[in-house]
Amino acid sequence: MTSVSVRDLSLKFGSLEVLRTLNLDIDQGEFLVLLGPSGCGKSTLLNCIAGLLDISDGQIFISGKNVTWEEPKDRGIGMVFQSYALYPQMTVEKNLSFGLQIAGMPKDEISRRIERAAEILQIQPLLKRKPAQLSGGQRQRVAIGRALVRDVDVFLFDEPLSNLDAKLRAELRVELKRLHQNLKNTMIYVTHDQIEALTLADRIAVMKGGIIQQLDAPLTIYNRPVNLFVAGFIGSPSMNFLPGRIEGRGDQVRVVLGSGLSVPLDGYEAGEPLRDSLEVVFGVRPEHLTVSREPTSGPSLPAEVELVEPMGADSLVWLRLGTNSMSVRTESTAGFLPEDAVHVTFDLAHASLFDASTEERI
Ligand SMILES: Nc1ncnc2c1ncn2[C@@H]1O[C@H](COP(=O)(O)OP(=O)(O)O)[C@@H](O)[C@H]1O
Ligand SMILES: [Mg+2]
Repeated sequence: MTSVSVRDLSLKFGSLEVLRTLNLDIDQGEFLVLLGPSGCGKSTLLNCIAGLLDISDGQIFISGKNVTWEEPKDRGIGMVFQSYALYPQMTVEKNLSFGLQIAGMPKDEISRRIERAAEILQIQPLLKRKPAQLSGGQRQRVAIGRALVRDVDVFLFDEPLSNLDAKLRAELRVELKRLHQNLKNTMIYVTHDQIEALTLADRIAVMKGGIIQQLDAPLTIYNRPVNLFVAGFIGSPSMNFLPGRIEGRGDQVRVVLGSGLSVPLDGYEAGEPLRDSLEVVFGVRPEHLTVSREPTSGPSLPAEVELVEPMGADSLVWLRLGTNSMSVRTESTAGFLPEDAVHVTFDLAHASLFDASTEERI
């Protein structure tokens, strides 16, 4: 069942068109992440769904009801912001109950809801404190609690973890995932952090310039990005991109990556026939390359180690390959050193080819 449906949504700030006939359907209970660089329109889209912005054109449905012109409080949503937006003069308990009191909810129902939210979020010991007496992580828990007590169908999050330090961010990320597994509400979550998107989402909508570039499961986006932008935005360290040219046909088709460097493309799943002499960008992630000291039995290319970045569990080895530079993930025990002469093998089943002029996946 569809939980949230955005139909031909357009939004302008003056003459600036931020969203253009955008369409998006989110399933009941789905965790959908809106991912993209700063300024691409993520918050604007979320605020339109929340009813905090008047849209220029289109319609929004929540739980089957057309809410395009409903007030935010009547949309059945709860929203959590990066800035927490707690009332500083109120205790945590009051911050949680305030909205419900305004709505005229009976006292015992309010207490029941606060008790439940406090238990889920482990904030019982904090109820009598004021926001100033809480850490950043605790404040964000309270902000989530305020959405939780409203007992809504849909939660909207706008970069809720961005103000926290790295360790706390990772902890709260796990808690959010647990919360979703337990509650099974629809969640729409805005972030510019691709790790948050990959770890939390059922589906990710990658946005650029107000347009959804790709809407897919995290692993599909990771393994089969539809264009150069999505390929480069997802993955850390980033996918390697090498300029190249398609040569030959059928079984003989290969990508030539500069003088004398040529990779046979059997094993690559092309969405369309590979055209002879097409200019392309060959993309391959650091973990889909293998380096060895001896030539392998299959096709491999000669390269030289430029530098090594140990990362704990594994190491990132930077290679010079003709005029190109590329990174390879290796076991940290492999012990490569700068200036080592090596051989590189590509895992073509996991590689990507993009048309150099359209930047679309081939
Ligand atoms: N109230 C506003 N008035 C004018 N322009 C705005 C306003 N809010 C956002 N914008 C512009 O709209 C674009 C999208 O902003 P936003 O949705 O906040 O991006 P994101 O959340 O992806 O970083 C940006 O170019 C931003 O400068
Ligand atoms: Mg934003």
